[in-house]
Amino acid sequence: KLEEKDVEKFASILSTPETSLLTTLKTSKGPKPVDASELDLFNNDWMNKYHGQSVCVLKPKTTQEVSEIMKYCFERKLAVVPQGGNTGLVGGGVPVLDEVIINLGAMNKIRSFNEISGTLVCDAGCILESLDNHIAEKGYMMPLDLGAKGSCQIGGNVATNAGGLRFLRYGSLHGNVLGLEVVLPNGTVLDGLSTLRKDNTGFDLKQLFIGSEGTIGLITGVSIITPRRPSAFNVAVFAVDSFEAVQNVFSKVKAHCGEILSAFEFFDNQSLEMVKAHATAGVKDPFQDKHPFYVLIETSGSKKEHDDEKVNELLEELMESSAIVDGVLAQDETQVQSLWALRESIPEAAGKLGSTYKYDVSMPVELMNELVEDMRSRLDKHGLMGNKVKEVVGYGHIGDGNLHINIIADKFDPAVEEVIEPYIYEWLAKVNGSISAEHGLGRMKGEKIGYSKSPASVAIMKDIKHLFDPENLLNPYKYLPSDK
Ligand code: FAD
Ligand code: MLT
Ligand code: ZN
Repeated sequence: KLEEKDVEKFASILSTPETSLLTTLKTSKGPKPVDASELDLFNNDWMNKYHGQSVCVLKPKTTQEVSEIMKYCFERKLAVVPQGGNTGLVGGGVPVLDEVIINLGAMNKIRSFNEISGTLVCDAGCILESLDNHIAEKGYMMPLDLGAKGSCQIGGNVATNAGGLRFLRYGSLHGNVLGLEVVLPNGTVLDGLSTLRKDNTGFDLKQLFIGSEGTIGLITGVSIITPRRPSAFNVAVFAVDSFEAVQNVFSKVKAHCGEILSAFEFFDNQSLEMVKAHATAGVKDPFQDKHPFYVLIETSGSKKEHDDEKVNELLEELMESSAIVDGVLAQDETQVQSLWALRESIPEAAGKLGSTYKYDVSMPVELMNELVEDMRSRLDKHGLMGNKVKEVVGYGHIGDGNLHINIIADKFDPAVEEVIEPYIYEWLAKVNGSISAEHGLGRMKGEKIGYSKSPASVAIMKDIKHLFDPENLLNPYKYLPSDK
């Protein structure tokens, strides 16, 4: 339980306590208490599904401050939630009870950028989009891109091993991150901010923190390799009449443009209709008729004429073979943005329509739509479709075998949830799929990990957690099953 003396200690560690410490607790030496509503932003998640009751948010400015705070919390056995941009979709970034929140937003400095190698070293709290803008001036780009880029932080991206829209081309953060600086639960600073591309000296410890969702250490610095920014982009959206056609188009696109392909996304008609009705971006449907599925492709390269020729050949082939029913190729940057908006606005539109149960799963591509259809008929059979459930939409990163199935209800309701779960997890276990492709486990799926991982793997994960965090202070009640 957080006491007055703890807040006073935090205030003494932070260089600017008046702006770096928000608390509702009254103290004699600490900063003035704030109204509880000022903590809402930090206690509630992006979906408004998970709610914590922390009374104290710390926004340290240096690794040293983070280290001293953690050392003190370790001695006092105070539980802590690391928080980045709070855009996570599994409830990992908000407290379960009254854990102290350490928000990394004030650690937002770029430490170095090497224009020859493309190696970027920065504080963990840098916003993804700001980093991308910064290195764009130097001809580089971040190797990941997400709809949440304007708010999410690179530390949060690494902590969740975020995938995103260009994973297909640039791969996982497990490959792109070169080094990390991490504060361990006892305050020790693990300085692993290497900029080396190759380094086979012992266990690659940084890999443990990538995707660890703030359970074994607080990431304070990131070293990451960034690719050259392509100068030529093409974006097209195709309408197709079946899910088989989505797969057929994927195969043809890879055969024709595999080396310049940077995204292959899909969404169903229900997603597009929802976006048209609810997205703020003023999204415009480029097609006159409705179609069951849509595919968005992006190519990027360094020679426009070369890419244009390839994309035009692809279009001819797709039309002639009737692989697609209709298609639109962006003619300028505005159209590039508006075609991307059709896909990127889906999460926001779902949030506007209602309370969204999000399932982020991976499985063999050919099974994806079966799961969406199964879910619709199951909810229908239980009398929920069109009643408590407003819509079920399927979309995602086909190129990575990653489906997002969103079930949008009028409110978060146990009566809806018990029809979806554990059914969906059992379904995925049967096809050897993953219950979390890219969003992570957080509070939502910690107890469910057994559907995707063996008891032996989970036991080793628990040992690792115990090794780093013997007092279970960092992001407790999440990520791994509790010991029952
Ligand atoms: P937070 O939400 O603050 O935290 C996420 C987790 O990481 C929590 O467990 C937290 O404790 C931990 N954490 C955060 N910072 C640190 C740190 N410095 N050290 C240790 N632990 C930390 N995800 C994808 O994979 N692909 C997508 O395409 C994608 N698109 C999205 C689109 C939208 C509109 C939204 C809202 C979310 C999307 N996400 C996506 C989900 C989300 O995982 C990412 O937005 C992002 O990686 C989270 O970063 P954040 O800074 O907001 O982290
Ligand atoms: C996406 O691909 O749009 C993100 O993962 C967010 C989401 O699934 O809602
Ligand atoms: Zn996604």
